[in-house]
Amino acid sequence: MSILKGKNLLLGVSGGIAAYKTAPLVRLFIKADANVKVIMTPAAKDFVTPLTLSTLSKNPVLSSFTNEDDENDTWNNHVDLGLWADFFLIAPATANTMSKMAAGNSDNFLLATYLSAKCPIYFAPAMDLDMYKHQSTKDSIATLQSFGNVMIPATSGELASGLVGEGRMAEPEEIISFIENDVTTKLPLSKKRILITAGPTYEAIDPVRFIGNHSSGKMGFEIAKAAAKLGAQVILITGPTQQVVNHSLIHVISVVSTQEMYDASHKYFKTVDVAILSAAVADYKPKFVEDQKIKKKDTTLTLELEKTKDILASLGKIKQKQLLVGFALETNNELKNAKIKLKKKNLDLIVLNSLQDKGAGFGGENNKVTIINKDETISKYPLKTKKEVAKDLISIILEKINA
Ligand code: CTP
Repeated sequence: MSILKGKNLLLGVSGGIAAYKTAPLVRLFIKADANVKVIMTPAAKDFVTPLTLSTLSKNPVLSSFTNEDDENDTWNNHVDLGLWADFFLIAPATANTMSKMAAGNSDNFLLATYLSAKCPIYFAPAMDLDMYKHQSTKDSIATLQSFGNVMIPATSGELASGLVGEGRMAEPEEIISFIENDVTTKLPLSKKRILITAGPTYEAIDPVRFIGNHSSGKMGFEIAKAAAKLGAQVILITGPTQQVVNHSLIHVISVVSTQEMYDASHKYFKTVDVAILSAAVADYKPKFVEDQKIKKKDTTLTLELEKTKDILASLGKIKQKQLLVGFALETNNELKNAKIKLKKKNLDLIVLNSLQDKGAGFGGENNKVTIINKDETISKYPLKTKKEVAKDLISIILEKINA
């Protein structure tokens, strides 16, 4: 999944031959699940048709302050469009358009929208090599960068003029990955690595049977998504679950038993900044696992169980710089027991799950949690969706990291 999913992307196309590349560019943004609107300068329409870009972007293309063809002749509001956008990309950015942007000129709809936009702005220059080298172009670029606009550099190669050199607009794939990288590195959890355990663990009794629990894994997956949304690199170690996630920042490691979850957690723990152990780990496992399927014989069957390794406690013992977060499911003396667990397992935060609300906890969509800090400060939350709970937890973690 792209970091641009669900984001509003405004594409401003100015009049250069590279405008033909905006058709595949729009397709890639749509494929990344971004919402796309396109503005063209009047000159851009000579190179690619508004019909092509409106069809691909699934939105009308705007190029003037009024819709001349419309009998009611409505006003196109550049301010609204500037506010709608999460990102504004000007591609191709011709020498003419860049110099007007730098000078604050607003003699077309694209330029007026540029001046009103409050979102991050990217521009991808495209022109012939001598124009690209000209001091006035360099000055425009420097001015735009001083405004905080981000340049997606032109590349070298054969140009429309037949000359070979710098000035070719970056390819659509390069433009989209440039923006994705730039957006990701500016997110608050960028460069942070987070280990998350999720789901149940299964302990084998014989080749076909196991001891397990009803954990859906949803809470852990939502935490992984909330962390990745803020740019964290996530290692999601999950027991058997129906949950699926497809995100470039989430690396999923599937395990079955507690021992496998323990091994994977220890393998990655040293490399992470934060570990959140939300898995519902089996506390006991059969002492002996039968090689063959157990045949039914007597009216009762006794299994001897032994304790599994406590992954969270074992990480608490070796933790150095890592922020360690555990979960607790309590039915009585909730706060007191959770605080004891926090100390005993050497945690920085513990998330206390309440089972006392209908629809909260295992399997359901919702959860009601209290988050207890090592310094005993307590944040109590009402019943919320697991997605919202995950967001709350990640915000508290972010605060602690930045404190
Ligand atoms: N945990 C773990 N390894 C285990 C058992 C639990 O990592 N073998 C983690 C869970 O992922 C969770 C926390 O420890 O973060 C839960 O602690 P636990 O002591 O098992 O408490 P509860 O399950 O809440 O219940 P109990 O009171 O039975 O201890």
